[in-house]
Amino acid sequence: MRTYLVTGGAGFIGSNYIHYMFRKYGGDIRIINVDALTYAGNLENLKDLENNENYIFVKADIRDREAIEKIFAAYDIDRVVHFAAESHVDRSIRNPEIFVETNVLGTLVMLNAAKKAWEQPDGSFPKDKRFLYVSTDEVYGSLEEGDTYFYETTPFAPHSPYSASKASGDMLTKAYWDTYKFPVNITSCSNNYGPYQFPEKLIPLIINNALQGKKLPVYGDGKNVRDWLYVDDHAKAIDMVQEKGRLGERYNIGGHNEKQNIEIIHIILDTLKDMLPEGDPRKALVTKDLITYVEDRKGHDRRYAIAPDKIKKEIGWYPETMFADGIRLTIQWFFEHEEWMKHVTSGDYQKYYEEMYQVK
Ligand code: NAD
Ligand code: TYD
Repeated sequence: MRTYLVTGGAGFIGSNYIHYMFRKYGGDIRIINVDALTYAGNLENLKDLENNENYIFVKADIRDREAIEKIFAAYDIDRVVHFAAESHVDRSIRNPEIFVETNVLGTLVMLNAAKKAWEQPDGSFPKDKRFLYVSTDEVYGSLEEGDTYFYETTPFAPHSPYSASKASGDMLTKAYWDTYKFPVNITSCSNNYGPYQFPEKLIPLIINNALQGKKLPVYGDGKNVRDWLYVDDHAKAIDMVQEKGRLGERYNIGGHNEKQNIEIIHIILDTLKDMLPEGDPRKALVTKDLITYVEDRKGHDRRYAIAPDKIKKEIGWYPETMFADGIRLTIQWFFEHEEWMKHVTSGDYQKYYEEMYQVK
């Protein structure tokens, strides 16, 4: 049975990936989820796997070399999928240090621990071992008027402390391939949306605020562009890259779905209005009057857009979920998980771990 070590599996994309993998492979795989449970890590995201004997949760910090080495010693890991990171640009502007600690030094700990566990006496690595670094399109910087897309060959030009730290982890991962032929892949994905996304990011924040009649903050002129991808499509791409990708290669993953932020907000408002049943008091709250232009983000990247040509050509992956469908699925999920949202916004989800795992 193949064993996966997933870091950051209690976060948004990581938890969707774990669900995807068990849906796809069932009992044929084992997943060790290693997560420090920061504000963004929520074990409620994986509640339905608690009794799955092929799923193991280990609370550990990727900066803690000893703890990570212990995990590699305890389990014969075949695949690493490294999601764990500080992931929010606005937080990185206020507090860059933790981004460097987790996204750069934590990545180095992961690379070293996997290398130590997998390296053969002659310096080679077994053929079936793979380490995937989950990177972002933000490492490429910002597209401006007249630019086309980000390609795998686009030079790195990160602007925010978040993207600079992700670029550093990304380059370290590539360096381990170049230097040691340590078996890596890197995926650079555009903005994700879907179930379990923490409501500090644009889409869940707008859904949550609109349903409560709260202001919808738009940074700057609202015309910054992001390329949105439904999270399950990202999970599928990661799996396909680990199965079929060429070692040492980077693959861009994107939705072919560029939209200005203000467009996204209008789509969410229209979809909420359409989906809320007649007589639901929230229907009256959801109006365009909630849209509020606020001060722009510092160093706000103008446009991100991915050309996912290489992954399509080499691996056969392409985005399957149209935005109109993905946003309905996402909103439906939020309708059905009001408790989740309440726990997350009140901080109660952090108590869940203590109760569930009886931590004092
Ligand atoms: P998230 O913030 O929802 O989840 C991050 C997870 O990592 C959390 O569970 C958190 O507890 C855990 N974590 C943080 N620091 C840790 C540490 N020191 N040790 C162990 N665990 C730690 O993030 P996300 O949106 O799911 O993003 C996952 C990955 O995908 C990140 O590497 C991010 O850079 C990348 N990515 C995200 C997007 C996006 O749109 N969200 C797009 C492209 C790439
Ligand atoms: P975000 O979800 O933080 O992702 P990223 O910055 O990694 O792309 O933001 C997406 C876009 O939405 C970005 O251009 C900033 C903008 N934004 C707002 O206008 N208002 C908000 O409240 C948030 C959180 C983001």
